[in-house]
Amino acid sequence: MQAVRYDGLEMPPKKRLPENIVQDFAEWVKMGAPDPRTEPLKVVKKAPQEPLWSLKPISDSKPPKVKNTAWPRQSLDAFILAKIEQNGLQPAPDADAATLKRRLSFDLIGLPPQKSEIRNLESEIDSLLSSPHFGEKWGRHWLDVARYAESNGNDGLSRNPSFPHAWRYRDYVIRAFNEDLPYDRFIAEQIAGDLLPADSSAQRDRQLIATGLLALGAKPAKAMNENFEMDVIADQINVIGSGILGLSIGCARCHDHKSDPIPTRDYYALAGIFKSSETMWGAAAHQGLTAPQTPLHELQAASKLLPRAELEPIIKANPPHRPPAKPSFSYKADAPLAMGVRDAKKIEDCKLNIDGESKKLGAAIHARRLEHQKTHPHHRPQPHLSDGLTQRRCAMALASPASPTRCRNHPRYDALCHRRSQSAARERFTHPASRCAHQ
Ligand code: HEC
Repeated sequence: MQAVRYDGLEMPPKKRLPENIVQDFAEWVKMGAPDPRTEPLKVVKKAPQEPLWSLKPISDSKPPKVKNTAWPRQSLDAFILAKIEQNGLQPAPDADAATLKRRLSFDLIGLPPQKSEIRNLESEIDSLLSSPHFGEKWGRHWLDVARYAESNGNDGLSRNPSFPHAWRYRDYVIRAFNEDLPYDRFIAEQIAGDLLPADSSAQRDRQLIATGLLALGAKPAKAMNENFEMDVIADQINVIGSGILGLSIGCARCHDHKSDPIPTRDYYALAGIFKSSETMWGAAAHQGLTAPQTPLHELQAASKLLPRAELEPIIKANPPHRPPAKPSFSYKADAPLAMGVRDAKKIEDCKLNIDGESKKLGAAIHARRLEHQKTHPHHRPQPHLSDGLTQRRCAMALASPASPTRCRNHPRYDALCHRRSQSAARERFTHPASRCAHQ
């Protein structure tokens, strides 16, 4: 109505509508903007689409037929050669040893080779794989997926508060790659590390730090934002969806997805899991208007920062632009701290937010159940929330979970690991990067 009244926006742009027509519009909106058409709506039938790659079960693809059968040394090569041949090209000649060494070095550790002499290829690869730089190079790719940053980014009020404890998560990721932590375990720790049993304080610390995945990410300012809590949850759902499930879910915050089977009910089923979790990002600001301070995980065995005495001169020499936020929570002196999540005090289902508005509430959606989309062409019976979102990457992620009884029935964990596809269970996944490197 503002637009047709030329109040801020001007619609139609060329000339204002006559006043009586503007009045008609106002009247019609007052009536609830009814649609006067009486004929039944036409249903547009779309040809069935290929399911998204991430929704297809894992299968063993047969290597394609190639003309030059002498070139492939292993089945993977046949896939590459087939494309080369399709384009009427020839493979380039094999690289000489020095070039190969240089490529390997850049690929595996992101750095040029140090010495030019060449040992045998296998020991060359082994030494690159065991280099600490391997985790830095390949962990960085995961850190991108995890939207890792050491600050919040603009909170909407032009402030970019820092996350001084985020580095612990960064180091966790690097270590996970260097220690070849299996992918399923890597994912499980980041989603539910706080719920997994631990044999030592060091392991417990590591798992708590892993949940930092869910606490990173930009927090909007809270002032004048009724949707703050649901915005934080939206960020968590986005990183799980896009980063782990290979499927964006975020649009279902406000409306059903049009062409993949994700209704808003699924979104709020998942949201219930995160609503029942407490997100701990620490101090994200200096003033009261932005994201409020939360507690942090207090670690037990993790290394402390430099001793206070060593730190003081550094702080003095680099005074902050603004005084740091006053801590609202107290910890043991010099306690190592980490961002992360833990169970909220209250475990509750999330209500549907109509149009994504957290004040316009609909029915509560059980945090574990999916609403079936039986009409969808690729519908498969999906009795659990996990199944609705279980597709390739998720199934892979939790193919062989050392699923501890304590969290087996916990919705946050359960949501992502309940059912495993048989085909995924056949393979034990380690990091894709190290798998490639070993092949
Ligand atoms: C914060 C809430 C919200 C989110 C999140 C959201 N939308 Fe929307 N979207 C709406 C609303 C409300 C409408 C209806 C607007 C109207 O009626 O004019 C709409 C309408 C649409 C339409 C037009 C539908 C039609 O039938 O004409 C499309 C397409 C669409 N959105 C796609 C998306 C996609 C893709 C995403 C995710 C990237 C997304 N939306 C995320 C609120 C949202």
